[in-house]
Amino acid sequence: MKNLLSMEHLTNRELISIILRAEEFERGEQHNLCRSYNVANLFFEPSTRTSTSFEMAERKVGCTVIPFDASFSSALKGESMYDTVKTLEMIGIDAVVIRAKEEAYYNELLEGINVSVINAGDGAGQHPSQSLLDLYTIHKEFGQFDGLNVTIVGDISHSRVAKSNAIALRNLGVNVRFLCPQEWAGDFEAHHSWDGLLEDSDVVMLLRVQHERHENNKNFSKESYHEQYGLTVEREARMKKGSIIMHPAPVNRDVEIASELVECERSRIFDQVRNGVFIRMAILESILKGREINDEVHSKYSI
Ligand code: CP
Repeated sequence: MKNLLSMEHLTNRELISIILRAEEFERGEQHNLCRSYNVANLFFEPSTRTSTSFEMAERKVGCTVIPFDASFSSALKGESMYDTVKTLEMIGIDAVVIRAKEEAYYNELLEGINVSVINAGDGAGQHPSQSLLDLYTIHKEFGQFDGLNVTIVGDISHSRVAKSNAIALRNLGVNVRFLCPQEWAGDFEAHHSWDGLLEDSDVVMLLRVQHERHENNKNFSKESYHEQYGLTVEREARMKKGSIIMHPAPVNRDVEIASELVECERSRIFDQVRNGVFIRMAILESILKGREINDEVHSKYSI
């Protein structure tokens, strides 16, 4: 794997091997990279979890993290994504982790760039590392995927997490259902009430209402959204035995989920954050190992 751009590009075999490697890292295994790699994290949109979790994972697999402050970079002078990444390549960077507001920004990096690109979120497009950590969280809980019912609730059309998870979960045999107001369904067929969804859901995955991507949200009422689509204390009490609550976070407390449920017994919201470090170690190792093998072939056969 040279890059990680979209869940569409990963086979079930590849994603299961990343999950199993994350499990080994969580048990304390060390990385198997033969040298230290230089990486840079280019976050053109805000992030707490993904940026710090990648940096932690990079350090744990022996990388040198080269600081890059997107808010003080030459991108502000109009430098293109291609020129920015090519510049970092010439400086000696091996891999970049990028978050940007443009969907599929990575298409302009597919030709002419040798640095590995890890997509840390492209607008409302994809968020593959979040999806992989979500899959890892589900796998830790249930040991497999086939036949599980996962209900994804909220701002579906603006959610890169929903799109990445829908692809991966369906490929793995999961029954994925969506619940949201009709105007947020995008290309998905969605339910508009909780009726019949709560009692058989193995996973209720809540999504943040992404006000920053809404053109007009003047009519949005937190109270009525919570009442209609939020996970209330009363709804949580009706959830199936052994089922879990997930949310990629950040959470709008008392909007998507009642504040007192964020750390309830069923909630895996903070576990997801912890799992993210192991998954990102596995992603980085897989990509950097691929570069190592490629370099060996090039030097042995001078190609
Ligand atoms: N879940 C997630 O992507 O969080 P951040 O925006 O804080 O990285």
